[in-house]
Amino acid sequence: MTVSSASAARTTYPNVAEHFNLQASKYNIGVEKVRWTGPQILVQQLIKSGFNGPVKGLDFGTGRGNVAKVLKEKFNPVNVKGYDVSAEMVRHANLDGHNDLTLKGGVRDLAEENENEYHLFTSCGVLDFLTPEDTEALSAQASRVLKPGGYFAVTYEPRGTSFPGIQTLQHDPKVLRSQFESKGGRVLVQASVGGLYDNFGVKTPHEKPRVENHILIGKYL
Ligand SMILES: C[S@@+](CC[C@H](N)C(=O)[O-])C[C@H]1O[C@@H](n2cnc3c(N)ncnc32)[C@H](O)[C@@H]1O
Repeated sequence: MTVSSASAARTTYPNVAEHFNLQASKYNIGVEKVRWTGPQILVQQLIKSGFNGPVKGLDFGTGRGNVAKVLKEKFNPVNVKGYDVSAEMVRHANLDGHNDLTLKGGVRDLAEENENEYHLFTSCGVLDFLTPEDTEALSAQASRVLKPGGYFAVTYEPRGTSFPGIQTLQHDPKVLRSQFESKGGRVLVQASVGGLYDNFGVKTPHEKPRVENHILIGKYL
């Protein structure tokens, strides 16, 4: 079920961690089935917008570490630390070994990170589970932990995700953009990039993307 941000609770829905704990072992089978290309789109768009490493990255809501996996196909060396609210996702991400480290944590835990530490801050398909207060806090943390010249890249579904069995939020692209800009981020790309049932933004003739997936990429100077 999708709810509008107007009716959003102030904190992340408590069932998110539980939901992804149950999904964790079969998460990658699920993403293959629906052809979720979010991590590939995110990295492809990052490179197009001028990011060329080095990659010391923080990936928020890392799941099984698929963003790091794609980054490793394009860059060397790659060092990614993941955060995820789901203990089972964290366990599987560490078993999969794409991230160098995945910790159980949410937005508030990012306060433990040093300032000016990372070249890249990513979050792929996660904002849909965060309240507007959380995305505000997330953009503040991204600006704090990134080095000058560091890039942020986030994808989300402005109409809420189609994840079955879980409530998701809708974010107004203008509001999200202004949250990142107000912390000094210069937006380089804000676009609709397809998503599920969509391969790298190229629609197959007989299929349409099932959901609209947006990307926001920027840089702190
Ligand atoms: C749709 S999955 C995306 C996983 C990964 N980014 C990818 O693209 O394959 C969403 C992930 O965000 C995590 N997540 C949701 N809300 C979160 C929060 N408040 N803090 C940290 N992680 C969160 C979930 O546990 C889940 O692993």
